[in-house]
Amino acid sequence: MKRILSGMQPTSQLHLGNYLGALKNWVDLQNSEPDNQNLYCVVDMHAITMPYDPATLKKATREIAAAYIAAGIDPDKSAIFAQSAVGDLHAELMWLLATMTQIGKLNRMTQFKDKAGKNAEKAGLGLYAYPVLMAADILIYQATHVPVGEDQKQHLEITRDIASTFNHRYGQDFFTLPEPMIMGSATRVMSLRDGTKKMSKSAESDLSRINLTDDADMIMDKIKRAKTDPEPLPDNLPDLEKRAEADNLITIYAALASTSKEQVLAEFAGQNFSIFKPKLAELTIEKIAPITSRMRELLQNPDEIDQILHAGAAKARAIAAPNVQKVKEIMGFWG
Ligand code: TYM
Repeated sequence: MKRILSGMQPTSQLHLGNYLGALKNWVDLQNSEPDNQNLYCVVDMHAITMPYDPATLKKATREIAAAYIAAGIDPDKSAIFAQSAVGDLHAELMWLLATMTQIGKLNRMTQFKDKAGKNAEKAGLGLYAYPVLMAADILIYQATHVPVGEDQKQHLEITRDIASTFNHRYGQDFFTLPEPMIMGSATRVMSLRDGTKKMSKSAESDLSRINLTDDADMIMDKIKRAKTDPEPLPDNLPDLEKRAEADNLITIYAALASTSKEQVLAEFAGQNFSIFKPKLAELTIEKIAPITSRMRELLQNPDEIDQILHAGAAKARAIAAPNVQKVKEIMGFWG
């Protein structure tokens, strides 16, 4: 049995990168491997490492939970919970793990460099220690597999590193070393405005991303305005991969259609973007619209989402508490 754990930050609306790089894969895994134990967290304690609005954090947390459910995460098959609902245990384990995390490794984290920017001296300790909290999120459940997009690879590496340091230092094979699962064809969805930059929540232009809450007209408009080159689509992968924007759109199509890029090229080789883009927009709308409308329905009843989050937190706590207890015993604490 695999124990799967993953999470998303309630920082703003989810976009197509979050869906194709992570959420869609979680749903596929849940449905194709029914024996797995699944834990899907809304990582609200990570969301406060950058400036945020306390008045909207609760709503944003419910929105992410609603997106999980609307996309197909079934609360009967997967625990859906807010990190802060088990926050005492996550934070406690984080502190214990922080004592065995090398600063040199934290200094190499690209996400910190990206987020802190030129002002690293003024960045908060929380942003710097972010990977240690993420390691605690994973190790506290002894997760065996962590399905994420490619940008989280480095965080998984440091998690494995911290786990093996613990096992080595205390001479016990206690922590499971989690495997990253970087699945599907869209492990790194790029911006619609610049095929060399990742699609992200923080990019200034809303035209750079498709949000899970965009309506059909917005999706059509954004895809029509997506940056491309003047050439028709090629008939082979090496030629496609030399063209960042074209490659990104074909990747998105392949992931949405659950097929390969080769298959998409076989269908559209030689066609112009004026033909391909409306097809891509139609497919995106077909896949996203049902999720958006289900999300809207769910959000009309926040009590129902809260019940799901409470039940998920109870399941998560039941796994986390004995693991933290065991870590403290191994580390020699009193009590
Ligand atoms: P976050 O909230 O930035 O992103 C959530 C998930 O979406 C994936 N993703 C993408 N995949 C493909 N293309 C993109 N353009 C793209 N943008 C985002 C991310 O890889 C991720 O899987 N640190 C994590 C949250 C976290 C976590 C955890 C994840 C905290 N604790 C424990 C797994 C396990 C993050 O910032 O995700």
